[in-house]
Amino acid sequence: MRIKPATARRIIKTRPFYLDLKPESPWDGFLGHFERNAERNDWAEYRFNSAPVLDRKQRQELLRSLAIFQRGETGEGRILKEIESVTYFPVDQSYRNALRLFVAEEGRHAGLLFQMIRSMGGQLTNSSGSFRLFYGFRGLLGVRFKLMVLLAAEIIGCECYDILGRYLKSCPAGKGLNRIQKDELAHLGFHCQFFHLLGRSWLKRKLYLSLYRFIAVCASITVMVEHRRTFRLCGLTTLDVAKRFRNRIRTGAQWIRNGVRLQECL
Ligand SMILES: [Fe+2]
Ligand SMILES: [Fe+2]
Repeated sequence: MRIKPATARRIIKTRPFYLDLKPESPWDGFLGHFERNAERNDWAEYRFNSAPVLDRKQRQELLRSLAIFQRGETGEGRILKEIESVTYFPVDQSYRNALRLFVAEEGRHAGLLFQMIRSMGGQLTNSSGSFRLFYGFRGLLGVRFKLMVLLAAEIIGCECYDILGRYLKSCPAGKGLNRIQKDELAHLGFHCQFFHLLGRSWLKRKLYLSLYRFIAVCASITVMVEHRRTFRLCGLTTLDVAKRFRNRIRTGAQWIRNGVRLQECL
């Protein structure tokens, strides 16, 4: 049943037996998606019992890239504390709950990548150029800026996991990467919708779009340089990768401008 928030508040006030009624939130769809994902809990199904057939140099490059992506999936916890004190629209309790589940999902990606790397005899990394840039940028301003950097990271995740997943499609690692990529696409929609709702005036939307394009382009260039040998191993030239990032950044901009429903990013 769909009712207006004001009506819901009046009903709750005058008819306390309807305790289950609460105003609708713009985040109900994404929250439901994250809850279903958390309940699925099917990560144990991914067993990396056969490694891709690669020569030593290729394996090294692939493992180096996977370790950098694994590092990027960790350390989002601080934003959960900060979001608690944010009260402006579109942040509400449903958004906070969805963000909590989003962070947990990134943690599960980190765990899956860790198993993948270990099964191929690789090691984790503590830092990388893109990771330092990512954290340096993120610490600069408030919650909105941090969320914008997270949004740019989803552009990277969507493309890179897609490239690697397709390349490794014949082995379990490819299946795992494709699964992660699907989640990243929903993350991209989740963050784009946040900035769509946040930038309600023409000027604000323009501002958020410009900031988004700047950060996303910087992040893409850094990743293209840092992982160029891995992309080459996947049969892609720098120009191919640049085109893929450009298209994904355009999709993100469209979603920020027009808004995005969960169904569009599943
Ligand atoms: Fe992730
Ligand atoms: Fe993500």
